[in-house]
Amino acid sequence: TRAIRIAPSLLSADFAFLGRDAQAMADGGADILHFDVMDNHYVPNLTVGPLVCAALRPHTSLPIDVHLMTRPVDPLIDSFAEAGADMITFHPEASDHVHRSVQMIRKRGLKAGVALNPASPLSLLDHILEDLDLVLIMSVNPGFGGQSFIPSALPKIAALRKRIDDAGLPVAIEVDGGVNPANARALGAAGADILVAGSAIFGASDRAKAIASIRGAAES
Ligand code: DX5
Ligand code: ZN
Repeated sequence: TRAIRIAPSLLSADFAFLGRDAQAMADGGADILHFDVMDNHYVPNLTVGPLVCAALRPHTSLPIDVHLMTRPVDPLIDSFAEAGADMITFHPEASDHVHRSVQMIRKRGLKAGVALNPASPLSLLDHILEDLDLVLIMSVNPGFGGQSFIPSALPKIAALRKRIDDAGLPVAIEVDGGVNPANARALGAAGADILVAGSAIFGASDRAKAIASIRGAAES
């Protein structure tokens, strides 16, 4: 079975205690910290930017996975690279030049990802998939934590898994939105590599246990 990496979404953390919550995620067995950047323009919510990423950086050794839900994309890439991000994922509809944005991210030595909304087709990956480190499949509409998982993400993940494996590409599949211990098994079976979870981890009374049960289900 495939090893699954768990990426708690800090969107569900206590923003007044982000360093503490990041540490708790590391202690609880998380592999990656998912950092949701919303601009009140591409998505109807407003969160945090490079200053907060830079403030968080000394408080964790986990990779910081920046999910840019912003338009435009490019002006934030250097700022997040300087703020200590390890991975940057953006929505292709929000960039005028998707290939250029990917190159900008990789030129800074960061891993690059493209995020697909629930109604965005896999064909948006044509001509760019081989340049990516990861694809983020959104299983909710971006903008808010705590939404319900949209089941059409499952066949989409399976189709993407097949495409990546057939081409022999080292591209990871990350899934974001409504992930919980109950649907993690199906997500693992469909071919996910990285599972983002916000409310299912931060809303649990035992967060380490929530991380372990999502991972356990996905790897089963
Ligand atoms: C949604 C964000 C997600 C969200 C996940 O726009 O990209 O990362 O925080 O939260 P849950 O797991 O609660 O759906
Ligand atoms: Zn996200």
